[in-house]
Amino acid sequence: MAAHPTLPSPVSTSLLLLLLLLLSCCYELCAAATVSYDHRAVVIDGKRRVLLSGSIHYPRSTPEMWPDLIQKSKDGGLDVIETYVFWNLHEPVQGQYDFGGRKDLVKFIKTVAAAGLYVHLRIGPYVCAEWNYGGFPVWLHFIPQIKFRIDNDPFKKEMQKFTTKIVDMMKKEKLFASQGGPIILSQIENEYGNVEKYYGPTAKSYIDWAASMATSLNVSVPWVMCQQDNAPDPIINTCNGFYCDNFKPNSEKKPKMWTENWSGWFLSFGGGVPYRPVEDLAFAVARFFQRGGTFQNYYMYHGGTNFGRTSGGPFISTSYDYDAPIDEYGLVRQPKWGHLRDLHKVIKQCEEALVATDPTYTSLGKNLEAHVYKTASGRCAAFLANIDDHSDATITFNGKPYHLPAWSVSILPDCQNVAFNTAKINSQTTVLEMKYTKTYDQAADESTDSSEISESEWKFFSEPIGSINSTAFKNVGLLEQINTTADTSDYLWYSISIDVKGNEPFLFNGTQTTLHVDSLGHVLRVFVNGKLSASKQGSNADASFKLENVITLASGQNRIDLLSATVGLKNYGQFFDLTGAGITGVILKNHNATRDLSSSQWTYQIGLKGEKLALHDNTQNSTWMTLSSLPRNQPLTWYMTYFDAPKDGDPVAIDFTGMGKGEAWVNGHSIGRYWPTYTAPPNGCVKSCDYRGQFSGSKCVKNCGQPSQSLYHVPRSLIQQGKKNRLVLFEEVGGDPTLVSFALRKAGSLCAHVSQSHPPPVDAVNTAQRKDAVLHLECPHSDHVISSVKFASFGTPHGTCRSYSHGNCSSTTALAILQQACIGVRSCDVKVSTEVFGDPCRDVVKSLAVEASCSSNEVG
Ligand code: GAL
Repeated sequence: MAAHPTLPSPVSTSLLLLLLLLLSCCYELCAAATVSYDHRAVVIDGKRRVLLSGSIHYPRSTPEMWPDLIQKSKDGGLDVIETYVFWNLHEPVQGQYDFGGRKDLVKFIKTVAAAGLYVHLRIGPYVCAEWNYGGFPVWLHFIPQIKFRIDNDPFKKEMQKFTTKIVDMMKKEKLFASQGGPIILSQIENEYGNVEKYYGPTAKSYIDWAASMATSLNVSVPWVMCQQDNAPDPIINTCNGFYCDNFKPNSEKKPKMWTENWSGWFLSFGGGVPYRPVEDLAFAVARFFQRGGTFQNYYMYHGGTNFGRTSGGPFISTSYDYDAPIDEYGLVRQPKWGHLRDLHKVIKQCEEALVATDPTYTSLGKNLEAHVYKTASGRCAAFLANIDDHSDATITFNGKPYHLPAWSVSILPDCQNVAFNTAKINSQTTVLEMKYTKTYDQAADESTDSSEISESEWKFFSEPIGSINSTAFKNVGLLEQINTTADTSDYLWYSISIDVKGNEPFLFNGTQTTLHVDSLGHVLRVFVNGKLSASKQGSNADASFKLENVITLASGQNRIDLLSATVGLKNYGQFFDLTGAGITGVILKNHNATRDLSSSQWTYQIGLKGEKLALHDNTQNSTWMTLSSLPRNQPLTWYMTYFDAPKDGDPVAIDFTGMGKGEAWVNGHSIGRYWPTYTAPPNGCVKSCDYRGQFSGSKCVKNCGQPSQSLYHVPRSLIQQGKKNRLVLFEEVGGDPTLVSFALRKAGSLCAHVSQSHPPPVDAVNTAQRKDAVLHLECPHSDHVISSVKFASFGTPHGTCRSYSHGNCSSTTALAILQQACIGVRSCDVKVSTEVFGDPCRDVVKSLAVEASCSSNEVG
């Protein structure tokens, strides 16, 4: 009798199990990759690779945002996500580790892997990164005999311990490429070469130690050191900067790698908002690949937010948007993202030629350069550059003329047809705007059209001035702040009582006296007899300051309470860890005499009462007060209210206009320090930014005279839909919380301006056949359609997005053609050609400018 076909015999069952076991082993083994490098490139599984990378720092967004950010990075053409590892997040207390929530490094790396991208893990563990204390835990500073970043045993011991901890964790989770994971590169230290000369004779031995310590961890992927010319083999020294085409690694055996191409720059409270035009960023990238580079990373691709007290400094703002291709809220920034995506596609079209050889360089005239990559099999890619910062040029290459705008690179993946020019943007511009919103779900109070919360809905708590309880202590003389608080709080009170006798010659009742305070920074608030009397702060460039305040002392006891606050600990520079903060001198003067209080006995209080009561997460009615009229513009006030989740899924921001300075919490999570009253300098901005010429962080700054940051991102995952959400504020100087409002980040108009002289779309199957430029519009939301075309002009239109106007020459059909092609669909493509629009002016290069908008409604 034949065996029942569906019942396997015991033999075939064990075979099946064996097969499954083999398959699961094979999954790991098959996915495992070897990573090495040679003179040309990082080599993965024996193949040299051109790698496009972007930095996303996991704690600067939320786990809920990670998949979308990573997908947008992939769609933007990235192969690799680069992140630092933030030591002080993971080891807040020596020996106690935390990898939960936004700190879930393993989850982040697995999310990158799930998207099919690689990881560059920059362990540091010093990271700089505009991160508090450069990523060092402050407890490190208190280890006896420790000296940071030199050949010092206590320091090396802790650095090795943490580095090993991270490496072991990655190995355990099988995250290195050799284990089938996504990590293809690691980094040890960070830009030590920039400061090495200040660290004396043991600096080099420290670097050699760091290199061999890292190598000994057997991660089986290459290690890099950025900005470290003397990085010992086998560590690859890499470049950081706005441009790195001039860079050469320290050995012929190492590839030319760029670990930080600054896509914009960081913002500080009191600074203007940095902006780096994409034409320049693309130029820098193209120049790098033109001149032999094969690995390039955008720092940042998504900058994100410095939540809590994580921002470095001093004075680094809560927003770490960085003018990156993905904005702080997680929306693609156009045309930056799109123009770079086009560039990435074209670079990938050149990959085979790029990795095959070094380029051959030919000068085409002053500031005009051609670099050609040719494989033995005849693949050819060329880069033509005009590095002049104002003159366009027409050059001849391989017998053909090419027009090169100033400060631009044309890329010819077949050495004949221009597939991309860095100065010619085909990508659309998407205007991102904030729409103020009611914080109420649909049904709630439709009659009020305010995004603010009314007075009666706020509770408050008045923070006492000066020392509060048994935790206060006395000291003769003025204490350095960071050594005193160990950064457990931004705040340190320095309090003193002065007895003014009626007959005292210079401090008698009613006399005007000047209080002089010297501070290392960062912010000082002077309270005289319980009243806020003066405030002063330093800046990112110089945190220290002197304050002079005319005060009136009364006869008898007078209290002077000085509240010194830090705004992020320094993260960069030689010996940055030793830069102090707080008050260094206090003198009283009047026309008769001087009294130096610096060496008197002071009473100290670390932190605030509200911090000790954990008010950010404390809802006890006995703590919070309500009054018929809410105290406003009162310094040192905590506020609490509840709000409903703003409707729909757009990213949320709180506008703190109306408040002074402080910190804010949503449902117990700190969304960072707010400081809408610290404004950018009135001057130094430009009306329009000329992308041509060397960029620097201060070129093209925006927002002069305006608050450096008035909008603060509240990640959606912190807000509970359909429930009451708690907002707690600590206001330091005085503000009106009823003015606090909510806004949604939305994509507004879509614009594009494409010339006939632009290359055809990079996706064009055969560039030789498809010669026409194409204008492409696409609604960012997949369920939105183009609902109106507000402007369209084919001819010689001018202006910028939302203020285009017709030029002397314009086709009469453009608007109707665009409406016909685009309305009612999510995306449309229109050829920029006289075939479509007719020819309104012969012998003139024409362009098409369009402004449209999207909506979720089908529009007929
Ligand atoms: C670099 C540093 C980065 C970051 C950057 C500026 O020097 O390596 O961590 O601080 O500057 O944003």
